[in-house]
Amino acid sequence: MRDETASDGVTAETLLTWYDAHGRDLPWRVRPEARLAGVQADPYRIWLSEVMLQQTTVAAVKAYYARFTLLWPDVRALASAEDGAVMAEWAGLGYYARARNLLACARAVVDRHGGVFPADLATLRSLPGIGPYTAGAVAAIAYDLPEVVVDGNVERVMSRVFAIEDPMPDTKPVLVAAATRMTPTLRAGDYAQAVMDLGATICTPRSPACGICPWMHGCQARAKGIAADLPRKRAKAEKPTRQGTVWVGQRSDGAFLLERREGRGLLGGTLGFPGTGWDGSDLRAPVQADWVHKGTVRHTFTHFHLDLTVLHAALPQGTLPSRGEFHGANAFSPQDLPTLMRKAHDAAVLRRQGG
Ligand code: ADE
Repeated sequence: MRDETASDGVTAETLLTWYDAHGRDLPWRVRPEARLAGVQADPYRIWLSEVMLQQTTVAAVKAYYARFTLLWPDVRALASAEDGAVMAEWAGLGYYARARNLLACARAVVDRHGGVFPADLATLRSLPGIGPYTAGAVAAIAYDLPEVVVDGNVERVMSRVFAIEDPMPDTKPVLVAAATRMTPTLRAGDYAQAVMDLGATICTPRSPACGICPWMHGCQARAKGIAADLPRKRAKAEKPTRQGTVWVGQRSDGAFLLERREGRGLLGGTLGFPGTGWDGSDLRAPVQADWVHKGTVRHTFTHFHLDLTVLHAALPQGTLPSRGEFHGANAFSPQDLPTLMRKAHDAAVLRRQGG
């Protein structure tokens, strides 16, 4: 039987040759020539970058990564950071459970593993916030173990190379099996990064640059002329829309009335303006005042849209709120807020009445 993984140059070797010449230079990455010269990747930096990359693009991650590694150059430094400082630096990346898990993971690495990231998948998986993707990425990229790394890029590349036409997510196991067959024993870390780079720079979602792809000759989707159509996706259910209100109160000295959100749910642990629940619960303002309607801001979370009504009031200097505390301009910057609350801030402070 024909070995389809080796068909017409669709091999790890072909891709690694391409990666040696065209792989991206990324701040956390050890390039192949440096690796050959004995430079080892820092598991802390690989882990940190991979957790951030699950949130957003490489371009957006670079600034966050630079700040984090400047403030907390190793896992011990991060483990002893203040929760609030880490949440503030994470602001804007979204999905704040990840930031809480980031801290919990750093502390677990220090407490349980003497500050050294484990290398085996099972132990990595037992750490807070580390799922199959991150465990595989740390084991492969930081420790060069032959583990399989599957993210959205890898799924797209595999679906095209093998022309897997059934829709996602049904085909996930098939794509993981394909990725497993392709992963080499040697240079597994470089290979993992190479497939992701291929997906990010050539085998892109909308208009793949098949003409310069190292796997162009064996790619079955290209042969069929359907590369740009894969992976197909099952139609998604519409996201529901929820409603809430926030009260943006500002004293004459500029201090804002803020509250740290309780719990482990969405935005749990982050700083923001006091608000209602997003299910219409708890409609009491944090203080009696002349609240002015400043419009509505929309924010989209993974599973729903939120329309947030923004109310604003100038509060007297001696105000005693029933919830939250005042934060002066010297201790707080709107940039430390999650994006939703930043939108509310901008609507309250920058928009004219009723805007
Ligand atoms: N996307 C997520 N992780 C990546 C990595 N290590 N290399 C390239 N792209 C990525």
